[in-house]
Amino acid sequence: MRVLVLFAHPAQRKTSINLAMADAARRMDGVTFVDLYADYPRFSIDIDREQERLLAHDLIVFQFPVFWYATPALLKQWQDLVLEYGFAYGPGSKKLAGKRLLASITTGGSERDYAVGGGNNHPIEQFLLPLRQTAFLCGMEFLPPFVLHSANHIETAASQAHIEAYANLLAALRDDVFDLDSAQQSSMLTRDDVARLTRR
Ligand SMILES: Cc1cc2nc3c(=O)[nH]c(=O)nc-3n(C[C@H](O)[C@H](O)[C@H](O)COP(=O)(O)O)c2cc1C
Repeated sequence: MRVLVLFAHPAQRKTSINLAMADAARRMDGVTFVDLYADYPRFSIDIDREQERLLAHDLIVFQFPVFWYATPALLKQWQDLVLEYGFAYGPGSKKLAGKRLLASITTGGSERDYAVGGGNNHPIEQFLLPLRQTAFLCGMEFLPPFVLHSANHIETAASQAHIEAYANLLAALRDDVFDLDSAQQSSMLTRDDVARLTRR
């Protein structure tokens, strides 16, 4: 698959894990990497360029830290402008149909926070429902999100393992050696799932 990573993080001076994950994705062969906040610091998105990029790829990855249970603002702006009626949806104009969408997200909240009765009261995938439905409306397959919880308190070894797993996941998807049917049985993917579902 031709892989497009759209990275959205507005506070890169303070980021730790997402920046390292982005650097790993940026260096990969066969992966197009886009830093949305670098390209559009004034939120003035080049819609034609973004739509052409989408058409030229099979797997679209949204990589972002969860902010207020949602995507950072520029990624929402990107959706609002790029996924136009007559391009992404509407009669006879689902140009993204058959493509796949993967969210690679980090959360400050822990796994326990993202459970019924926990601080955030719902599993993380429930907060991604708008993205899932957006993909559905556009005829795209929504993959289980690749998730890192407790991203601000992760130890160095675990952090390295997560970055490596992210690169491995992108490579396995790019090379069509990731078991998507089995992956779709899970509500989310963690770094431990990547090796388990990769068939090299
Ligand atoms: C404005 C803002 C809003 C946030 N909202 C959430 C949230 O809704 N849920 C959550 O689990 N973490 C939230 N966080 C924590 C971030 O998700 C966390 O700091 C980030 O994933 C860590 O990745 P980084 O080191 O690459 O920045 C928020 C952080 C900021 C700055």
